[in-house]
Amino acid sequence: MKPVSKDLYQHSAYVPQINLSFNQFLLDGDEPLLVHTGTNPQTEALLPRLKEALGGRPLKYIFVSHFEGDECGGLPLLLEEYPDAVTVCPEVTARQFAGFGQNVKTLVKKPREKLTTKDYELEFISYPSEMHLWEGLLAMENRRGIFFSCDLMIRRGDGDGVVIDSGWEAEISGIRHEQIPDPARLEALQKTLRTFSPSFVAAGHGPCIRLA
Ligand SMILES: [Fe+2]
Ligand SMILES: [Fe+2]
Repeated sequence: MKPVSKDLYQHSAYVPQINLSFNQFLLDGDEPLLVHTGTNPQTEALLPRLKEALGGRPLKYIFVSHFEGDECGGLPLLLEEYPDAVTVCPEVTARQFAGFGQNVKTLVKKPREKLTTKDYELEFISYPSEMHLWEGLLAMENRRGIFFSCDLMIRRGDGDGVVIDSGWEAEISGIRHEQIPDPARLEALQKTLRTFSPSFVAAGHGPCIRLA
């Protein structure tokens, strides 16, 4: 996994047919946390790199922002390797795991709730995700100013280890209607995001973003 920011490591899988890369992140610390698993084949590629990065330490948490193949498709495979890992997710996602017969130990979080350890503080933000506007979660790591943008603030191309420069307001106003197809909820999310001032966006797809 490649270092992209403080205590943050990226694994990226590029799919040339759609010119899109799929990123998973390890937030390393006393209680290591993985952000998204990738699809099952992507998890197969991720696992040896993750094990190497952890150096024999267990994975404590897996954050899943919403239920979709590239965010959590490889979760059962990952849990074979790390059976004690706790999956941090929204309530709807926890129900979807159960509905698909997946045996997942979940820690359900609501918007504005936090996951605080000695090393990091993740604050969760409501994310009406994808076409069904499922109640997903975005996450802000408050100590390092890292925003996990999931399927927002994404760009095409191979983002493996790539960090580009942008501004926070430009990224917020660049969230498109197709990404959150409900004007009121899009506006509410943009308003919430403006109350934060991160320095880095760990995007779910494409390059990461250093904020000026
Ligand atoms: Fe997604
Ligand atoms: Fe995605």
